[in-house]
Amino acid sequence: MLSEKLHAAINEQINAELWSAYLYLSMSLDAESKGYKGVANWFYVQWLEEQDHARIFMNYLNSRDAKVELKPLAEVRTQWDSVLEMFQETLKHEKVVTSLINNLAAIAAEDRDFASSNMLVWFVNEQVEEEENARDQIFAAEAVENDKYGMYQLDKELATRVYTQASPLATAE
Ligand code: FEO
Repeated sequence: MLSEKLHAAINEQINAELWSAYLYLSMSLDAESKGYKGVANWFYVQWLEEQDHARIFMNYLNSRDAKVELKPLAEVRTQWDSVLEMFQETLKHEKVVTSLINNLAAIAAEDRDFASSNMLVWFVNEQVEEEENARDQIFAAEAVENDKYGMYQLDKELATRVYTQASPLATAE
């Protein structure tokens, strides 16, 4: 049985993942409104991935006979000054998410809840990737700052990103 502390923290995490999804959808729509269709695609894929993250936690609570309780989503920002700023905010946000995941891992370890610790390994690794992806995009956006043609090329490159379902979902249902 999950401890009450971990159950509550995972419900909070579901909200954080859905809020992340909402944030990236907002970035996608802002980019789209400015004509950056590739950037919009990159954040749209991010939106889908964050929903996967929330779903993995929902499935996990269900499988442990613990109720999922959805909470209201806080408002998100709707406008950014540049593509670079979007990726900078992405990295900043992902660092916060990393600390939330680490906190969940610490509670599971305290509880000696090995099933939860195992489930969280995927998220610990995923956060390394999330931060690296954001850093890569900051590097790319910095390289083309004030270079319209470069930005055009970067936008085309970001248009090629495709969504693939998170592996725990592909094997879960
Ligand atoms: Fe769900 Fe972007 O971490």
